[in-house]
Amino acid sequence: MVAFASAITISRPHLKARGIVGITFSPKGNRLNRILIVTLVLLGAACSRQESKPSTAGDPAKGKQLITQYGCTACHSVPGIEGPRGEVGPSLEHVAVRPLIAGKLPNNPQNLTQYLLNPQTVSTLNIMPNLGIKPDEARDIAAYLYTLK
Ligand code: HEC
Repeated sequence: MVAFASAITISRPHLKARGIVGITFSPKGNRLNRILIVTLVLLGAACSRQESKPSTAGDPAKGKQLITQYGCTACHSVPGIEGPRGEVGPSLEHVAVRPLIAGKLPNNPQNLTQYLLNPQTVSTLNIMPNLGIKPDEARDIAAYLYTLK
């Protein structure tokens, strides 16, 4: 029974297994089973919390300064940043809640940081230039962009 339980957890780590585990372990629930179920439920809860809170580990206040410094507003309208509100690129308002970056990459901290470091990751035809941003700067800028919900 224990081996069976482990197999389920390992082969289906993505399932929010609370209900499933409960059903699988109904037979006369001995103490070990109950402990196992409680552990799995706690594990499941911990996993879903992690998934729902991605982070760039960057500093949004620094990111804000860097956006001014790199002149992003020459091409983008960026909420909270003074500047020309350029129209070459899309407005970055609500960029945090867009599902895709540049219409192609799933929007998550890793992809957004990578995109800022090298916009041509998406396509060599992408006209956003490579601005020579450093990795820690890209994380800070991404942290600011994720405040734009
Ligand atoms: C020379 C103009 C230009 C500059 C400067 C520029 N960008 Fe862009 N950016 C673009 C263009 C054009 C696109 C659209 C690319 C596409 O979708 O193919 C884009 C796309 C983006 C996207 C994806 C937006 C989305 O909705 O998918 C982000 C994020 C972004 N830029 C951030 C920045 C940041 C931050 C800076 C400053 C560090 C910056 N850009 C500087 C032109 C520019």
